[in-house]
Amino acid sequence: MKFLISIIIVQLLLLYNNTSVYAYDKEQCISCHGNNGQSIILNYPNLAGQNKIYLFKQMLAFKTGQRENPVMQAVTKNLTDHDMDKLAEFFAQQKPHFGTAKRALLKAGQLLYRGGNRQKGIPACMACHGPAGEGNLLAGTPSLAGQHANYTQTQLEAYRAKKRVTDGKGIMPDIAARLTDDDIIVLASYLEGLHRVH
Ligand code: HEC
Ligand code: HEC
Repeated sequence: MKFLISIIIVQLLLLYNNTSVYAYDKEQCISCHGNNGQSIILNYPNLAGQNKIYLFKQMLAFKTGQRENPVMQAVTKNLTDHDMDKLAEFFAQQKPHFGTAKRALLKAGQLLYRGGNRQKGIPACMACHGPAGEGNLLAGTPSLAGQHANYTQTQLEAYRAKKRVTDGKGIMPDIAARLTDDDIIVLASYLEGLHRVH
């Protein structure tokens, strides 16, 4: 009898492990991406309110190794399409987090975001990411509004170095290649404070 009970306990433990590792489980994400996808760690992106199509695409990119990040590649390894769809839906529906821009960088960031720089061939970010950084739902263009400046900076640098190759059309690598370090810093700060005024 004791033996039987211990077998049942072992099986229950295995089952528990299976569900927490293989099945869609947003609790796994919260330790890094924060409660409801509002991350408090500067290098971990906010997911709350992000475009659903974009979220799914990025999880798939980590899973297939197209987007390289050891942590996220491990996290997505065993997620099914169904799991990723549910996770994307959950985080897309959460209330977004907004920060503030550094006052000294605000004007330069705003000019570049809204108008680009014709001389350097930088298009206005606003044209695709929207006036309030909200992105474009159907086109799968990500929201940038309120994102941690640290994270945004890392991504723009990764596009520029051709380390991030998730953009099949090569739009972002091409744009990022024209950005100086200072451009990236002012844009990242501006975006952290950007949001729709209600
Ligand atoms: C141990 C920390 C950690 C855990 C747990 C974690 N993530 Fe992440 N996640 C990260 C980091 C770090 C990045 C940024 C990777 C990079 O720089 O490319 C990231 C990036 C992402 C992105 C890309 C966001 C964007 O704006 O492009 C998505 C989507 C994502 N994670 C979803 C999830 C989901 C869903 C879970 C739970 C199943 C999860 N993550 C669990 C650390 C984590
Ligand atoms: C022609 C449309 C277009 C323009 C203009 C554009 N973007 Fe993007 N951006 C995209 C698309 C599409 C993606 C998603 C690419 C991918 O899947 O990696 C993206 C992704 C990003 C990301 C990654 C977001 C994340 O959560 O990881 C950042 C940051 C970004 N863009 C910043 C900018 C900035 C800053 C500018 C202006 C200098 C800009 N973009 C101009 C279309 C555009």
